[in-house]
Amino acid sequence: MIDRLKEIRERALSAIEAVSTSEDIDKIRTDFLGRKGALTMLLRGLGAIPPDERPKAGQLANAIKGEIEEALSGKSGILSRGEAASKIAGLDLTLPGRRRPVGSLHPVTQVMAEIASIFRRMGFAVAIGPEIESDFYNFEALNIPSDHPARDMQDTFYVDEKILLRTHTSPIQVRTMQRCRPPLRIIAPGKVYRCDSDVTHTPMFHQVEGLMVDRHVTFADLKGILTYFIQDIFGSDTQVRFRPSFFPFTEPSAEVDIQCVMCRGAGCRVCSRTGWLEVLGAGMVHPQVFRNVGYDTEEFSGFAFGLGVERIAMLKYGIDDIRLFYENDLRFLNQF
Ligand code: FA5
Repeated sequence: MIDRLKEIRERALSAIEAVSTSEDIDKIRTDFLGRKGALTMLLRGLGAIPPDERPKAGQLANAIKGEIEEALSGKSGILSRGEAASKIAGLDLTLPGRRRPVGSLHPVTQVMAEIASIFRRMGFAVAIGPEIESDFYNFEALNIPSDHPARDMQDTFYVDEKILLRTHTSPIQVRTMQRCRPPLRIIAPGKVYRCDSDVTHTPMFHQVEGLMVDRHVTFADLKGILTYFIQDIFGSDTQVRFRPSFFPFTEPSAEVDIQCVMCRGAGCRVCSRTGWLEVLGAGMVHPQVFRNVGYDTEEFSGFAFGLGVERIAMLKYGIDDIRLFYENDLRFLNQF
């Protein structure tokens, strides 16, 4: 027994000495110490030897087991350090790392942020409201009667009879006035939805609403603030024109045009040879809208406006098809 134990020890230690990979280390561990390994099998026969020899044989077997385990873990450490080093050996550690592509803000987001920063400088706070809106806030409270064409299924995405996707940001005017007393100055940026699609219309687009209410607010304030805004965003030499228009929630109402940014007023295809481009709708808040939110129409007056953000972005960057904003083509988006 003692001789066979010594023979196993010699075999195991020389195998460990000769080994060159981590996998072979595992194999040696199994061959000698595993459930069916040479040392384990020999120890199972311990009962067959004379009782007075057993303690000595047992002690020797444990010592050999410890010796083999120690040799295995020592060699395993040496091998894994060597394997890691040889993996690194083929690499040039001075090369720069791989660059991650840097994202950027969508052009519509950039223009919306620019619009907000111009109005913030003039003391306007930012308000928000829900995109899924009730018929009351989107139409009723804004003095849009139930037989108004804007309520037609062709223009509005209805969720059910009384719930819809807001068609403009004007409901935020009503929500804000219900919550706050004048004086107030807010802008409300956000997504709006209409059943509409061509080169200048998409079913989802962005608007920025504006509302200012106080004592003695006049049409002159509306003109001054919107002219300042337009000349800030398009350049201080941009000509602005206010044209009479109609919205059920403002009276009087106006549409605001800028001199065509393409032809500088000479007349071209983009401005349909008129020299002017419409950029937003505006007007003095209709007394009925004030009454709907409980404001005293004798004491307060105000103006509101609403602009299409994509339209401003198209004019600013000379883009002739609104759908480009929503195709996710990186060649287009990377230019901004
Ligand atoms: C309105 O939506 C009014 N709520 C604006 C307003 C607010 C007037 C406050 C007075 C007081 P209008 O339907 O004209 O108005 O839309 C405003 C702007 O949204 C348009 O000038 C246009 O630039 C943009 N717009 C309208 N429909 C689309 C569409 N389908 N796709 C992209 N832009 C659109």
